[in-house]
Amino acid sequence: SWRIPMLVQELAAKVQQPPSRYVQPEQTHPVSLATGAETPEPIPVIDLSRLLAADGADEESSKLQLALQSWGLFLVANHGIETSLMDDLINAAREFFHLTLEEKQKCSNLIDGKHFQVEGYGNDPVRSKDQTLDWSDRLHLRVEPEDERNFAHWPEHPKTFRALLHEYTLKCKRIKNLILWATAKTLGLKEDYFLAQFSDKAPSFARFNYYTPCPRPDLVFGVKPHSDSGVLTILLMDKDVGGLQVLRDGVWHSVPTIPHRLLINIGDFLEIMSNGIFKSPVHRVVTNVERERISLAMFHGLDPEKEIEPAADLLNEKQPARYRKMKAKEYVAGFYEHFCKGTRFIESVN
Ligand code: SIN
Ligand code: FE2
Repeated sequence: SWRIPMLVQELAAKVQQPPSRYVQPEQTHPVSLATGAETPEPIPVIDLSRLLAADGADEESSKLQLALQSWGLFLVANHGIETSLMDDLINAAREFFHLTLEEKQKCSNLIDGKHFQVEGYGNDPVRSKDQTLDWSDRLHLRVEPEDERNFAHWPEHPKTFRALLHEYTLKCKRIKNLILWATAKTLGLKEDYFLAQFSDKAPSFARFNYYTPCPRPDLVFGVKPHSDSGVLTILLMDKDVGGLQVLRDGVWHSVPTIPHRLLINIGDFLEIMSNGIFKSPVHRVVTNVERERISLAMFHGLDPEKEIEPAADLLNEKQPARYRKMKAKEYVAGFYEHFCKGTRFIESVN
C-alpha cells in the first residue's frame, strides 16, 4: 500500500535506482541547489569549558551570541562527554541497525503493522500521499520524562544500549541547561528564563538516524530540508562520514566531520521565544554511494500544554511580537504537517 514503504536498508539491497517515491522533484534535486560556498565559512566553535570559566566567559559568551544570530548553530568543544561514551553509543546503534529485520522490528514504529506512531524503529513515517520519502531509517525514542520511557521500543540488543543511552541523555541534559543559561544571558534575559520553560513534563527524544548508501545521491535526500521544532537539538555525528548541510544566506554549507565535537542547533521554539533574534537553521542531509552513516539527534522539547511565545522582556513598541502564542502540542502538529511536504510551519505563525 502507499502507506507503508519498505525500510530503506532493505530496499537498497533490492533496487538499482531509488524508486520514484524517494526522488525529489526536479527543482529541489540535491545537485540543482547551490552546494557548498566557494570559500566556505567555518561553522563557529564554542568552548563549553570556557563559557563556564571565571576568565574567558565573556568572550566565549559573545561568540555564542554571534553564532546564534548568524547561524543558529555551532560546534561544541570541551563539552564534558567522554569520547568513549560517544563511541560506545554510536557503535551500539550501529550494531542495532545491523541486526536482522525481524529482530529490529521488535521495536517497530508501526501499530498492527499499519499505523505509524511517534516512537520506535522504522523508515520515514508517511503522513501524506504525495510526500517524497527520505532515504533513511531511524530509531526514535522518548528519553524524557524518565518515567514515561516506553521500553517496548528500546532495543534489548546490544545489551549495553539502554544503559549507554540513559547515561548519554543525562550528559546532554547538562549541556542543554548550560547553553540555555548562557543564551538567556546574551539576550539580557534572566539567566533561567529558558530553563524555567521546562517542566517535568517536557519531552526529550533521541533519534538515531541510519543512512544506507544510495546509488543516486543526486536524486534523494537523507533528510529533506527542515528546521527542528523544539528548543535545542544536540547532534552526535558519524565520526568520518559527512552529509549534513546547513543553509545560510542562501548557500548550503557542509558541516565538517570532526570526531567527538557535538553540533548544537536551536529549534523553532527558541526562535519564537527569542522573537526571531535567533533563527532556527534550515538543514538537510545528503547521501553517498559508498558508506553508511549514523547520527544521533537529541531533541529537547517543551510540555505539550505549555504556551510558547516571545519573551515579554524582548518586546517593545519598536519590536512587537513576531510570532503568535501557541501551545507546544499545536505547534508540533503543524510542524509535522509541513515537514513532510518540505515546507516550514514557522513561516506561517508570524
Ligand atoms: C537531522 O536533521 O535530524 C539529521 C541530522 C544528521 O543526520 O546529521
Ligand atoms: Fe534536523
